[in-house]
Amino acid sequence: MADQLTVIVLAAGGGTRMKSKTMKVLHRIGGRTMIGHVLSAVGGLEPTRVCAVVGHQREQVGAHILECLPEAVLAVQEDQLGTGHAVRIALEALAAQQAAPESGTVLIAYGDTPLLEGDTLRWFAAEHEAAQAAVSILSGVVDAPTGYGRIVRDAEGDVLAIVEEKDASDEQREIREINSGILAFDASFLGDVVGRIGNDNAKGEYYLTDTVQMARDAGLTVTAFPVDDVWQTEGANDRAQLAVLGRELNRRIVTRWMKDGVTVMDPETTWIDAGVALAPDVTILPGTQLLGATVVGEDAVIGPDTTLDDCEIGAGARVVRTHGQLAVIGDGATVGPFSYLRPGTTLGAGGKIGAFVETKNARIGDGAKVPHLSYVGDAEIGEGTNIGAGTVFANYDGVNKHRTTVGKHARTASNNTFVAPVRIGDGAATGAGTVVRRDVPPGALAVSVGQQRNLEGWAQAKRPGTAQAEAAAAAQAAADEGDPDI
Ligand code: UD1
Ligand code: CA
Repeated sequence: MADQLTVIVLAAGGGTRMKSKTMKVLHRIGGRTMIGHVLSAVGGLEPTRVCAVVGHQREQVGAHILECLPEAVLAVQEDQLGTGHAVRIALEALAAQQAAPESGTVLIAYGDTPLLEGDTLRWFAAEHEAAQAAVSILSGVVDAPTGYGRIVRDAEGDVLAIVEEKDASDEQREIREINSGILAFDASFLGDVVGRIGNDNAKGEYYLTDTVQMARDAGLTVTAFPVDDVWQTEGANDRAQLAVLGRELNRRIVTRWMKDGVTVMDPETTWIDAGVALAPDVTILPGTQLLGATVVGEDAVIGPDTTLDDCEIGAGARVVRTHGQLAVIGDGATVGPFSYLRPGTTLGAGGKIGAFVETKNARIGDGAKVPHLSYVGDAEIGEGTNIGAGTVFANYDGVNKHRTTVGKHARTASNNTFVAPVRIGDGAATGAGTVVRRDVPPGALAVSVGQQRNLEGWAQAKRPGTAQAEAAAAAQAAADEGDPDI
């Protein structure tokens, strides 16, 4: 590629058709904002410099751009007077930082085309440079060209101009080759013409597209390269279009993972964000969403009906009908069905978090198990320990949260309450229904439930004439006669 590559991303427009307090380019698909996807594609080109033009909601949009691409230069366009004006503002902002592009290529992209790929920009810039053009257009041949600028070519097929919809003749409106909006410029040509663009047109805007005719008038080369994959230059103007792009992006991501060796039983109901990483031989069952920066190791099976956001799942793990966020699940561990993993959950290798178990800020060791109906909050559970069914880690005293520590290879019984802060030692045990309020030393058995008392004949005496009393009396009589079943 040329010695210098400058990319200008236009994102000053308001996007009123979103009908949203959130700016258009900040709406998300595939786990990223629309402009986040564009900046990710742009960043992959390793350009010499990037300038983003912001206007509407410049604080939020500008801050987000810098989060995505810290080296970007922001240019503020107070009023949106057109794409030509926006590019002039960008060049002025770069010049103010002694970073004006004096040579090489300047690529123009929009902040609302989330399916754009870096490879397409790279190919387009290379074609533009090979053609030694003053301006090149990334065009597309579409069935419904309404709203787009049309590419006007002469009889030889050479590009003469871009005519905007509102300025086009009826004949020009029939043209189906459109301007995607992505343009490539020779840097010195752009610097020369950008200040000379006028606004004498139907919209009274400074059209960047006028530079095509200006290049032709100066006897310079103009080229247009149609892109086959028109999805890549499609923008979302309203939420219906956003959903369409979101589904297509997802289809692409899911297809890519299948090609990389992931089994996806039902691509239609599987959603995978752009930032997810999957190892070969992962299996994803229907109704599964893998979101954020989730990572899944080899041979793991996820789903059905599972949502994992920013989770790390170990090799060979099994996660069934689970909702998880910021949880780390070890190799070969099992989770679910119906488990709720909240932030700060870590489960060691071969461990288990079972049915109807909620965990939060809980470090559960290798091979440790919380199999049934429990809440584990602010806790540490040592390796090989088994927590009985229906255990509640009572971490909250109404004012503060406290931690519970259970040692290694402990065996706690069903229906326990651990009142934090409390420690249960290695190899300790508890009886059923125990409320643990004081530390349990290693190896001790803790019981807190009082001796059981049986008041003989209570039903017959206190509930006479009821089915309960009759059943009790009959059983008593049978026992008195030595019935072996009793
Ligand atoms: C533009 C093109 C048109 C092309 C279409 C593709 C021009 C004159 N027309 O038309 O040929 O087919 O895109 O979608 O360039 N923006 C700013 N500041 C402004 C104006 C626009 O930052 O002053 C940004 C917008 O936020 C948007 C992009 O530039 O991201 C395009 O602007 P928009 O008004 O949508 O242009 P179109 O009329 O669609
Ligand atoms: Ca547009």
